[in-house]
Amino acid sequence: MSAVLGGFPEWVLSLAYLVAGVMFIQGLRDMTHPRTATRGNATSAAGMALAVGITVLWFDILSPLVLFGGLLVGAVIGTWLALTVETTEMPQLVGVFNGFGGGASALVAGAELTQLFNGTRTLPVDVTAAAAIAGIIGAVTFWGSLVAAGKLHGIIGGAIRYTGEHVVKVLFLLGAVFSGLVLVVQPELFGSVPTANWVPSYWALVAAASVLGVLLVIPIGGADMPVVIALLNSYSGLAAATTGFVLNNTVLIIAGTLVGASGMILTVIMCESMNRSLTNVLFGGFGEDASGGEDMDDIYEGNITETSPEEVEMLLDVADRVVIVPGYGMAVAQAQHAVAELADLLGENGVDVEFGIHPVAGRMPGHMNALLAEADVSYDKMRELEAVNPTFSETDVVIVTGANDVVNPRANEDDSSPIAGMPVLNVTDARSVIVNKRSLSPGFSGITNPLFADEDTSMLFGDAKESMQELVNHYKESSS
Ligand code: TAP
Repeated sequence: MSAVLGGFPEWVLSLAYLVAGVMFIQGLRDMTHPRTATRGNATSAAGMALAVGITVLWFDILSPLVLFGGLLVGAVIGTWLALTVETTEMPQLVGVFNGFGGGASALVAGAELTQLFNGTRTLPVDVTAAAAIAGIIGAVTFWGSLVAAGKLHGIIGGAIRYTGEHVVKVLFLLGAVFSGLVLVVQPELFGSVPTANWVPSYWALVAAASVLGVLLVIPIGGADMPVVIALLNSYSGLAAATTGFVLNNTVLIIAGTLVGASGMILTVIMCESMNRSLTNVLFGGFGEDASGGEDMDDIYEGNITETSPEEVEMLLDVADRVVIVPGYGMAVAQAQHAVAELADLLGENGVDVEFGIHPVAGRMPGHMNALLAEADVSYDKMRELEAVNPTFSETDVVIVTGANDVVNPRANEDDSSPIAGMPVLNVTDARSVIVNKRSLSPGFSGITNPLFADEDTSMLFGDAKESMQELVNHYKESSS
């Protein structure tokens, strides 16, 4: 017990951990809805500050001054990142955070083992077993996350594949598992050398798992990285939880388990929304072939109707109900403010306006909700897929801006397409559809979209921000 908290009985620590655990759970609960998500973030962060603060001071790990200094440095870096990182770069930032979580777990478990070993020259089996798991998962998470973040940021190229890749991965996995077994069965091996004050088998498994982390992620295409990052997020939680067993620290076990479970649920939701199995994400090669092996001319030639902001404005003038469907392109163009302004103007003129949000529109969970909320769009106006789909038949105009796969009817009609079975927004049920994008290029899945050639669809070619702004200007002029 520390000099600072010396007078407190043991139950104070347990109570603080319990309060922190409850704050994590309440925070997660709040994060399930965009309206309460910010509060959930703050509650979880406060719980983490309590857990870290009391642990560091209780066990006399650092002096209060050093702790404060560390918090200050972390706060400055965190604020700088929050202010400078673009929303579209958020997945790679999350990836780096996950990686640091996994790396920290592996290092802390190793440090604890070394300290225990130096004291007693023996190590209990439950500690070595937990450390072995923490070391393997933590190292895989650290290196895997760095590669995933590098791919998303364009620093590392696309899928890197080679002959015999699965055999190489299995060999490194076996190497890590073998070192783990040595650690559990005979931890003093090599460590009994008089000068050795460390546990070599542990660091051997960390080295093998580090290479494995890189090898596991390099063959996966950049487009699948958001799912990989969600999975690695789950791994970072598992690594933290097992490190909690090494340290016998309850709050770390609680926090790690929550992260592990929520990351896994998120991974499953993302896979289901894309109608893909996790195995297909990890070992397939989705989205790598941008042409999808098809000839675009077969579908589009002679069937594309082009429109202009003036014409769209005329359609909007006589519309009673309009649904706006945003997608990845809205994020790229940062068109959310122009889109929100258009929705406001339509609303002021008595038009019933809603947003149709697909669960995997964009490149990260909640991507569209977060961008629209940033532009002050009310959450009541954002309708999820199941809620908005039945309303399209009552809708006069759908404006699809920067979306492609999430409105592709081939998901319903073509069993052989890579997105077959993926739930999509059935915008073709509406009276007219305006699709705003820069060209006829495919989206994430790399396949053509018959919606563009539909008789009720008109293409408004152009950057989403510029096109929406032009539309706003025309609408303002016509209504003044
Ligand atoms: P996509 O199908 O990827 O299509 C986006 C479209 O935006 C592109 O076709 C592109 O066409 C257009 N675009 C790009 N920049 C633009 C700009 N500046 N202005 C206007 N348009 C622009 O996007 P989506 O419909 O949102 O679907 C998301 C896809 O990502 C799904 O296949 C989903 O499975 C996948 N995915 C999602 C997630 C999550 S969690 N959201 C994670 C992993 C994968 P042009 O080049 O012609 O402009």
